[in-house]
Amino acid sequence: MKTIEQIISQKSLKQPITMLTAYDYPTAYFVDTAGVDMILVGDSLANVVLGLESTTQVGMKEMLHHTQAVVRAVKNAMVIGDMPFESYQINGPTALDNARQFIDAGCQAVKLEWFENCPQVASTLTGAGIGVMGHVGLTPQTAQKSGGMKVRGRDSRSAQEIINNAQALQEAGCFSIVLECIPQEIAQIITRKLKIPTIGIGAGVHCDGQVLVIHDVLGLFNRYQPKFSKKYADLGAQIITAVKQYTKEVTNGQFPDDAHSFHLSEDEIKKLSG
Ligand code: KIV
Repeated sequence: MKTIEQIISQKSLKQPITMLTAYDYPTAYFVDTAGVDMILVGDSLANVVLGLESTTQVGMKEMLHHTQAVVRAVKNAMVIGDMPFESYQINGPTALDNARQFIDAGCQAVKLEWFENCPQVASTLTGAGIGVMGHVGLTPQTAQKSGGMKVRGRDSRSAQEIINNAQALQEAGCFSIVLECIPQEIAQIITRKLKIPTIGIGAGVHCDGQVLVIHDVLGLFNRYQPKFSKKYADLGAQIITAVKQYTKEVTNGQFPDDAHSFHLSEDEIKKLSG
């Protein structure tokens, strides 16, 4: 398993860090086998797996259920549990108790989205020895309260705020920070200022690493495609082709053929009464 120390050292060694989401056993197995550094069991589970509108609609129960499936498959990557809405924004002790449940489920670290008291909560967790990844810029759990799902930091005031938030999370002991949907110039400033690695999603090329949602990468989610994500395969189209072929073969009697069937010997058939 990749360790926090190895991830941090990739920044100084200038080895770009790769991260993808996964939410189930088979996907986690293939993503891990392909060799990513970190796997995030993201609360994007709500959108791309459960078909919900908002990440605020999943809680600890759903996140832990999917985290356990991912952990069963992963042998090499670091697994990070995304703490769901209201599991850490309440108070330090509740946040710590919930974070420990992700660690007990087999995660090496948890991720927290920025909110006003995020540095205090992050330092409670890091003080208890839990690895914490921060998340600044666009933070979907609270986006509706602050302008919707749009790029953040487009003016110097809000850009400065994002830079300050990232620094505060580093001081709170976070081992890395996700930068979501911000101009790449700000991501570059943050990446230069921080000792810990930045992981970008819609934050340009200057981050220390990149993360994408696996369903976007594989073409498995067609409700919307964010500008920053890239489709590397069209598995959705392949599923439709395969299912059409299966339907056709069942309908015309081509499937199951002899190769996919079992036989009873003539002798045994003769012994049957009916
Ligand atoms: O839940 C998620 O998928 C995330 C990534 C976008 C970083 O938080």
